[in-house]
Amino acid sequence: MRVLDSNFLGPLREITDKREIALIFDEIQCGLGRTGYLFAYENSGVTPDMLTLAKPLAGGLPMGAVLVSEEIAATIQPGDHGTTFGGGPLVAAVAGHVFERLSDPSLLKAVRENGAWLGEQLETIGRRSGKVRAIRGMGFIWGLDVVESANDIIKRGWDEGLLALTAGEHTLRILPPLIMDRDDLQRGVSILAKIIGQ
Ligand SMILES: Cc1ncc(COP(=O)(O)O)c(C=O)c1O
Repeated sequence: MRVLDSNFLGPLREITDKREIALIFDEIQCGLGRTGYLFAYENSGVTPDMLTLAKPLAGGLPMGAVLVSEEIAATIQPGDHGTTFGGGPLVAAVAGHVFERLSDPSLLKAVRENGAWLGEQLETIGRRSGKVRAIRGMGFIWGLDVVESANDIIKRGWDEGLLALTAGEHTLRILPPLIMDRDDLQRGVSILAKIIGQ
């Protein structure tokens, strides 16, 4: 759970441009609205040559996609890239709908605004508890480095009605549903404060 800022991505783009290497961003977790932007790269100021998408693309149905620049697209012919379940009509129809919903500027704006608020709440939990070493993230994707075992904390969350993930032994991964409103976020924040132990 680390935000790649333009200080890292800018030079990476320069090096790959100079050496004619394709720059590929994997946005399977951070893409499709998760950061408050349709694609996470939009906020970084760096445009990749290829970009992968999956998880939320068809709302839980199995679907992945790769976006490529015009230059790369010109080198690919039909049949070069095949996959058993790629582009089936059912998942493609669902993905079309999901993509339309996730492209809604008001949804993305809400994720940015609620995400900024969530970040402030997480900072407060960290400060008050003294049990959080670092907080990183944006929009609705946050990582908290915790002193205690992250697994023990999320198990306490199950009893309180909060589902969270880990990202390593001492990192909590917070990924609220993109439609979550401030009231539900507040509930989650209160539970989080309790299970981290403030
Ligand atoms: C960042 C990231 N990239 C790639 C993958 C693999 O995606 P898929 O299962 O669609 O091949 C995952 C799956 O967990 C992921 O989180």
